[in-house]
Amino acid sequence: MSDSGAALPAVGLTAVGVAAIRAAESERSERLFSDPFAAGFVGAASSRNRLEKSAERRGRRPSLAAWVVVRTRFLDDLVLDACARGCLQVVILGAGLDARAFRLDWPDNLRLFELDLPQVLDFKQQVVRTEGWHPACERITVPVDLSDDWGRPLCEAGFDPGAPVAWLAEGLLAYLSPQVSDTLVAHAAELSVAGSRMGLTLASARRMRTWREAHPDGASTDGDYVALWRSTGPDQAGEWLSSHGWRAEVFHITERAASYGRPLEQDARGADDARLVDAQRC
Ligand SMILES: C[S@@+](CC[C@H](N)C(=O)[O-])C[C@H]1O[C@@H](n2cnc3c(N)ncnc32)[C@H](O)[C@@H]1O
Repeated sequence: MSDSGAALPAVGLTAVGVAAIRAAESERSERLFSDPFAAGFVGAASSRNRLEKSAERRGRRPSLAAWVVVRTRFLDDLVLDACARGCLQVVILGAGLDARAFRLDWPDNLRLFELDLPQVLDFKQQVVRTEGWHPACERITVPVDLSDDWGRPLCEAGFDPGAPVAWLAEGLLAYLSPQVSDTLVAHAAELSVAGSRMGLTLASARRMRTWREAHPDGASTDGDYVALWRSTGPDQAGEWLSSHGWRAEVFHITERAASYGRPLEQDARGADDARLVDAQRC
């Protein structure tokens, strides 16, 4: 792919690291999911410039790799379960280079909305076009800054607030302030009929604390994703979500990893307080 198009913003580069982890996982014989599209995104990004390359290298950190692999599987299961129960709308907030639209086995008439910053969706679309990939559902991209009003553009793009929806916010909330995260889950609740689902990931508070202790001046090296983290979610995540109309079940990465037959290895344990949320609109 050519080096055309605007550079990805720093927060958008984090999506490249995530795709690199999914590409590596997809090559394992005992993989927890298969993402045959991730390597194409990483290859296209790495051919662009130094920053994209360094974002890809970040994906080799064991604690991040374990986190991404476990959360991907968790959210694959959640969203497919929601669809099996009749949900025909999926909204991926901060979709980055998520390839679920292309790689999952969706029911007929499924509409999937991807929301992210314009530069990120532009890059993704260039790769999709160049590679000639076709989604396995109706895929609609909605370029937005999730700190602003995103509900209106989503509805204008065809989202139906009167029908059940499954929301995914994977690897996203860490990059938003607590206030923006609050608004996001509250607004998702307003747009959700009872029974709608939401899958969230809450990054490791220990990892963020360790990073801040090691970098008191806040300076980061290229592609250092933890430098961009702004929060890891309230300690009492269930109560927080309940106050916004969601009944949530909160899982710890250690428990989920073990349940998938992939117990966390020693070098991933510095971030083993990361959490996964399966919530339902009450
Ligand atoms: C770590 S990546 C995760 C991407 C994707 N959810 C996945 O798991 O593959 C974080 C994503 O959130 C997006 N993001 C962060 N802040 C955002 C904002 N204010 N508005 C829209 N997207 C945002 C970034 O552009 C990036 O694609």
